[in-house]
Amino acid sequence: MCGIVGYIGKKNAYPILIKGLKRLEYRGYDSAGVALISERQQLNVYKTKGKVSELEDFVANKDISGNIGIAHTRWATHGEPCSANAHPHYSSSETLALIHNGIIENYAVLKEKLQAKGYEFRSSTDTEVLAQLIEYIKITNNLSLLSAVQLALSEVIGAYAIAVLEKDHPDEIIAARKSSPLVVGIGENEFFLASDATPIVEYTDKVVYLEDEEIAVIRRGRDLKVVDPNNVESTPEVKQVVMNIGQLEKGGYPHFMLKEIMEQPNCIYDCMRGRINVEANHVVLSAVIDYKEKLLNAKRFIIVACGTSWHAGLIGKRLIESFCRIPVEVEYASEFRYRDPVIDKSDVVIAISQSGETADTLAAVELAKSRGAFIYGICNSVGSSIPRITHTGSYIHVGPEIGVASTKAFTGQVTVLVMLALTLAKEKGTIGNEEYMEIVKELSLIPEKMKEVLKLNDSIAELSKIFTYAHNFIYLGRGYSYPVALEGALKLKEISYIHAEGYPAAEMKHGPIALIDAEMPVVVIATQNGLYEKVLSNIQEIKARKGKVIAVVTKGDGIISKIADYCIEVPVSMECLDPLIATVPVQLLSYHVAVCKGMDVDQPRNLAKSVTVE
Ligand code: AGP
Repeated sequence: MCGIVGYIGKKNAYPILIKGLKRLEYRGYDSAGVALISERQQLNVYKTKGKVSELEDFVANKDISGNIGIAHTRWATHGEPCSANAHPHYSSSETLALIHNGIIENYAVLKEKLQAKGYEFRSSTDTEVLAQLIEYIKITNNLSLLSAVQLALSEVIGAYAIAVLEKDHPDEIIAARKSSPLVVGIGENEFFLASDATPIVEYTDKVVYLEDEEIAVIRRGRDLKVVDPNNVESTPEVKQVVMNIGQLEKGGYPHFMLKEIMEQPNCIYDCMRGRINVEANHVVLSAVIDYKEKLLNAKRFIIVACGTSWHAGLIGKRLIESFCRIPVEVEYASEFRYRDPVIDKSDVVIAISQSGETADTLAAVELAKSRGAFIYGICNSVGSSIPRITHTGSYIHVGPEIGVASTKAFTGQVTVLVMLALTLAKEKGTIGNEEYMEIVKELSLIPEKMKEVLKLNDSIAELSKIFTYAHNFIYLGRGYSYPVALEGALKLKEISYIHAEGYPAAEMKHGPIALIDAEMPVVVIATQNGLYEKVLSNIQEIKARKGKVIAVVTKGDGIISKIADYCIEVPVSMECLDPLIATVPVQLLSYHVAVCKGMDVDQPRNLAKSVTVE
């Protein structure tokens, strides 16, 4: 998720653009850049790795004149963070400059075509391909910038919010969106452009939210023009912004955590984008294909991670063992790094980390690598330390996760693990075609099913009020839902400070059931998959001791609803995909209990978003 800003009007563009980028840094901050058409009609592009403040240092003695410009703060998806990969990107002739938020899935094919025509590239980004494609089309067909953008976008598959400047037209910005947000602010003889209204509201409250496939032609001194790819003009609907800047950064939600819980359907779409093809009944992780000999011949997988990422690893174990029939061990990185583990060259180590900077996980990877293991990373932060030392890996593409309590990264990690296991099993021939196709189809339905669960937000908020008294919680699950129980317990602990423990449901009778009394809330993941009847018995054991049971059940479950105290109904799915559905209610429950208790949900005490120390 990147941040885009644009300005055209009578004022100096640079200060407005830089201030706008700072408002959008929560969207991504690994590199930043600005393009300005100067008073002498030079198209100047300045960009650097790092935060916006480093861009300011970089341009300190440069020509930053001009009253038209675009700017970008990056959250890398293709190409690691560096100045070459930072936006804006020049076209070859350096007469166009382009910024982009989104993912162009078919960029490699487009890049090859342009390279065959003699185009050279300065970066490894998908964005530069678009800049070159627009120029190629413009020159080849002698077209206006608008027409070239329309034709170029008709060849693009994926998501984009773009803005383009042309050196010889200092009175015009062309902008377009598809699946990535883009807002035009309408001022007095000036226009603003941004990924959301945050950088705009201090100048004007009149905005136009572009719709998918819409292209904005923003010209100094003219009314805003909006056309579709076929140049059919539409009347833009001007809205008034009522949110303040703080609310806007959080997408209108009170906390980043709730925003990140709510955006999971879109994040899982982004995570699967370009990797799943439902029509062709196919899912593929390119890194698995690139290294399939290594992965197929692995005698063992070892998953190393911490916290929530370790919980995702437990699910990865079940997926890989079930689909690929390769043994998997899941280790706390902090334990693994100090126990002098036996590592063989045939071992594959999977390192899971949202931040890519967790010290224990990084150390575990370095140890395993030094002993000859092949390392596969599953991370969110492109170009962070862990991906830089792995042999290969897959990014989860869920965008920056700001809330300390990990939510969308967890479901993104699990989604990548499902795709990894499926890709490998297909190559290995250890999964039947029927089962494979059923899982691929069900996986593609997960974002919509997540949306169903998110509709329960208000009812779960009501339910959470009942339990703010609690000093202890127990979370239970079996099979694929046992890690969900652990994750639910961790979420509650870290943001509400209520002690909570996750257990395999069958473990209760081996001691923990002594804890059960009328004061003890017990959350049970009891979807109608796997060992449902056994979980049902476990719930009855708890009720017999007056425990309060909150059951996450499959919609329409008429059995558990008769014995549990509270039921949260989720859509039916497949057992191996249940974690993607059943995790959402326990995320919401922990969030609302913490809010009821007045806790600092986004930045809980004693915690950091990335534990870069031992
Ligand atoms: C989870 O909500 C916590 N923030 C924490 O357990 C986190 O998952 C852990 O520190 C690992 O972080 P990583 O995924 O960035 O490596």
